[in-house]
Amino acid sequence: MNLFGGKSNIKRVQAVVRTVRVADPKGPEPRPSAVRQHSQTTQTHRATASPAGESPSTPRSSPGTPSVDTADSSRLRAPKRRARRTSPAKQDRVNFGSDGDEDEEDTDDNHARKKQKLAGSIDSKRQLRQKQAFSEEDGGVFDMIHAANISFVGKRNKNSEPVTEHVTVKLQYPSSSQQESYNLVFGRDLIDPCKEILAIAKIVTEVYLTPDQAIAFDEPNSGILRQLVKARNILKKEPTNPDLLENFKSAVDTYNKSITNLIKEGAITKNLDNRHHLPLNMIRCMLRQVYDRAVSPRVDLLKQYENGTDNVYGELLPNFISEALSKTGLKSDQVFVDLGSGVGNVVLQAALEFGCESWGCEMMKNATDLADAQASEFNARCRLWGIQPGEVHLERGDFLESQAIHEAMKKADVILVNNQAFTPDLNQKLVQLFLDLKDGCKIVSLKSFVPDGYKITSRNLGNPVNLLSVQKGEYYSESVSWTDAGGTYFIATKDEKRLKKWADQH
Ligand SMILES: C[S@@+](CC[C@H](N)C(=O)[O-])C[C@H]1O[C@@H](n2cnc3c(N)ncnc32)[C@H](O)[C@@H]1O
Repeated sequence: MNLFGGKSNIKRVQAVVRTVRVADPKGPEPRPSAVRQHSQTTQTHRATASPAGESPSTPRSSPGTPSVDTADSSRLRAPKRRARRTSPAKQDRVNFGSDGDEDEEDTDDNHARKKQKLAGSIDSKRQLRQKQAFSEEDGGVFDMIHAANISFVGKRNKNSEPVTEHVTVKLQYPSSSQQESYNLVFGRDLIDPCKEILAIAKIVTEVYLTPDQAIAFDEPNSGILRQLVKARNILKKEPTNPDLLENFKSAVDTYNKSITNLIKEGAITKNLDNRHHLPLNMIRCMLRQVYDRAVSPRVDLLKQYENGTDNVYGELLPNFISEALSKTGLKSDQVFVDLGSGVGNVVLQAALEFGCESWGCEMMKNATDLADAQASEFNARCRLWGIQPGEVHLERGDFLESQAIHEAMKKADVILVNNQAFTPDLNQKLVQLFLDLKDGCKIVSLKSFVPDGYKITSRNLGNPVNLLSVQKGEYYSESVSWTDAGGTYFIATKDEKRLKKWADQH
């Protein structure tokens, strides 16, 4: 057992986050053409199928993020550096399967017809399209970490040139931005280039195209996705065969040309303008790309915390964040704050998924350095994907002291505190900070700020927890980085009427 109440576990299964006593999120948003036909009445539909490419029964790779030291029940263990096991979002990759057969089945399903599982309720005010991403500004060229930049291409010669033969492939995203470079090398990199390219192509087909436009991509026998899957499957058998490498590259070029035509015709911008919500598989894919490029190569930095302090490190995973923040009803015109934001994972997800103004505060230097790296890569990725996130503000320092964070808290609609490892003293100080929150603000936490069984009495009328009404939720596997086990979380609502109600009854 560990501090967070479970065992560290490398192999994980898909998250099934279920919450009790809290309202259900609304249902999926249809594809762009369907949005025009049904307008907002479709909000009440609930997703019944997994996002295309995700199989609930498919084992996922380990997040490899900060995990629990099972040898010491009171300590979290910092993450090990492992190729393809370092991102908390990694297990959520859109899965094209580990062998050819799975891929073929996957593509034969016409995912254009599948319902998409969406991350929460549809927010009709949310504008998804990023104008800059479709402008000619800067020629669409900007700083980003290409997959090829972190790719292993063999030993280097004395001129520092990589000596392993490889083919570089360039991928067009659904925007007017630059293409991303991937080196087709396999087995040692953090990123599997073919798997990621296939996942992106599939998400773009599902999210950015109308059913009619998607036919050329997801037609089961000869569609562009099918060509990509076939080329990848053959390449997997002989990953260094130059002809097969060129064959995969040529399939990507075909995909690029078709997407570029749709961008030039204005179809992508039109479709994005008709959409107000992103499916969770796309959010996970984008966040995973950011984490893999900005954090995974330096993930060892997160090991450097002092055990038994408030700085014990662990991360909430995208499924949990999506579920818990959806329960709060977070919207694009609202403000979110993460107190103790680590590498900024929750802050970035809130800005991407909900489009809200999103704040974080973190005091550990290494985590804040990685958070800045993530924020920069996040901006680049949002531009590549053509998506406008909410404003992101990452503060360095102590959230008990930071004036900027106190100001943000005063206007916050939702606050998240991953306080599972916080000392009782810090949790107590946080309750005092909550006195300044606006009425109705929701606080998501892993430990409740209101003691179990607590009741308002005439002797505790001055206790600040009297202003909090709490609901308890449950999370299951794949929700947090330090354990595969489930647990509980809490959503407290600042409710200034509670004391008056009590007084009226007594
Ligand atoms: C368990 S991590 C959570 C990271 C991220 N919020 C998540 O849930 O994925 C908690 C973080 O809170 C930070 N922290 C603890 N006390 C803090 C304080 N007073 N001010 C700023 N950060 C603090 C720790 O350094 C640690 O990185």
